[in-house]
Amino acid sequence: MSASILTTSNGAPIDNNLNSMTAGVNGPVLIQDFTLIDKLAHFDRERIPERVVHAKGAGAHGYFEVTSNDIPKWCKAKFLNKVGKRTPIFTRFSTVGGEKGSSDSERDPRGFAVKFYTEEGNFDMVGNNTPVFFIRDPSKFPDFIHTQKRNPQTNCKDPNMFWDFLGQTPESTHQVSILFSDRGTPKSYRHMHGFSSHTLKFVNSQGTPYWVKLHFTSETGIQNYTAEEAAKMSMNDPDSATRDLFETIAKGGEPAWKVSIQLMEFEDAYKYRFNPFDVTKIWSKKDYPLIQIGRMVLNRNPENYFAEVEQAAFSPSHMVPGIEPSPDKMLQGRLFSYPDTHRHRLGVNYQQIPVNCPYAVKGGVKNYQRDGFMAVNGNGGKGPNYQPNSFGGPEPHPEFAQHKFDVSGFAARQPYTHPNDDFVQAGDLYRLMPDDAKTRFISNLVGHMSGVTIEDIKVRAVTNFYKADKDLGARLCKGLGIDINYVSRFDARANL
Ligand code: HEM
Repeated sequence: MSASILTTSNGAPIDNNLNSMTAGVNGPVLIQDFTLIDKLAHFDRERIPERVVHAKGAGAHGYFEVTSNDIPKWCKAKFLNKVGKRTPIFTRFSTVGGEKGSSDSERDPRGFAVKFYTEEGNFDMVGNNTPVFFIRDPSKFPDFIHTQKRNPQTNCKDPNMFWDFLGQTPESTHQVSILFSDRGTPKSYRHMHGFSSHTLKFVNSQGTPYWVKLHFTSETGIQNYTAEEAAKMSMNDPDSATRDLFETIAKGGEPAWKVSIQLMEFEDAYKYRFNPFDVTKIWSKKDYPLIQIGRMVLNRNPENYFAEVEQAAFSPSHMVPGIEPSPDKMLQGRLFSYPDTHRHRLGVNYQQIPVNCPYAVKGGVKNYQRDGFMAVNGNGGKGPNYQPNSFGGPEPHPEFAQHKFDVSGFAARQPYTHPNDDFVQAGDLYRLMPDDAKTRFISNLVGHMSGVTIEDIKVRAVTNFYKADKDLGARLCKGLGIDINYVSRFDARANL
């Protein structure tokens, strides 16, 4: 079989890909050599900014299938309206703090982002493998992330920064406890659950709203590495989870997750014993049991990593009729942050990139946005570029108005006032751990905190765990050689 002809970027055939054009055998290279300049100039621009967080990831295509006929009672989204309905999806898993070349098995939360290509537009579920998060106000996010990255002077990861911030952020104790438990080092992306973490709003066709949380439960079950196994895997194969996902699907495997919701009546929000919009808290499954609504299956590898995985642009603000934001402050911050970073990372027309394009919408995207870098979808052709117009251009329809809800109070910088115990759920998590898991959890914390060189930072961090559970606090003190009386005095001062 004869090979196809190599071309330049403007499609012209190339005669020779091994020798630059020179003036004589030993002479300088000619500027007229477009084949060479085209190649070098494109190479020079290969890197786009890496994601500021979740830079290392792996992805796959698949489908979501509805398994319950009950969903229209709570949500009018068309892709959820009948049993057996399948919606194509693209899912990207990731670690959070490391750079694009970092190891898949590092202790870190894992990102769990799913793009549903629905007939009413793309719905993105941009969650993690943990049901809660470290903070509950978006203004803390850049500071929090800086402490997980490199020290501005040494360019090394810095346990002082890490624990300094977390110790002064007591609401992080729950998520930090998950992070240093076995679940901080999942064996692969197939062996972990996914969570919206945030509360979202479902609205049915009568306009009745509900609060929901989404849960993706791995059908393979959770499997984790111990800290030692994770460290070994980082050395042996830093791409272990990426490789596992790709090879599983290449061999015909179909990683799958049950998709469920926790459902809360709208009026219950301010009666529940925790603030349901505080992303550092879970809703107890005893209070709000899981209701299975579907299945997510991954069955097709990307053809090209950069095109499909690196250019994938998820956003919690990509919603469809029937799914709306809750007042969760973190979620509200994220609604802005993701499209903003995509415009920076991929350009203003990032939704035209095939992996992001809402291709399942009949007739495609129709609006009056025009121009900008890489307007590659015809740019609205000869149609009108303003609205209202007299030329039959697309028009909004009140049928798609979001659910209205009442808000009141002062516009001010203010924390949530609804009960906000930062330690009870972290303590419950510890008390529920089997003894061997408790021992590993404490050893993981001691191992990491041992790198802290400033005593007060260490004590403040231990104090949060002491407040969650006295036994946990005492065992950490022992492991770190800290006097428990010092911690309890620190605790008393913190309570003043
Ligand atoms: C990625 C911001 C909280 C899950 C990102 C990115 C930014 C960001 C800028 C990079 C996106 C890109 O370049 O494509 C924020 C801010 C937060 C926040 C400002 C809080 C105010 C969270 C929370 C979760 C989460 C609470 C999970 C519940 C993710 C995931 C990705 C991501 C899964 C990777 C998406 C992908 O695979 O492309 N975040 N984030 N983030 N974030 Fe957040």
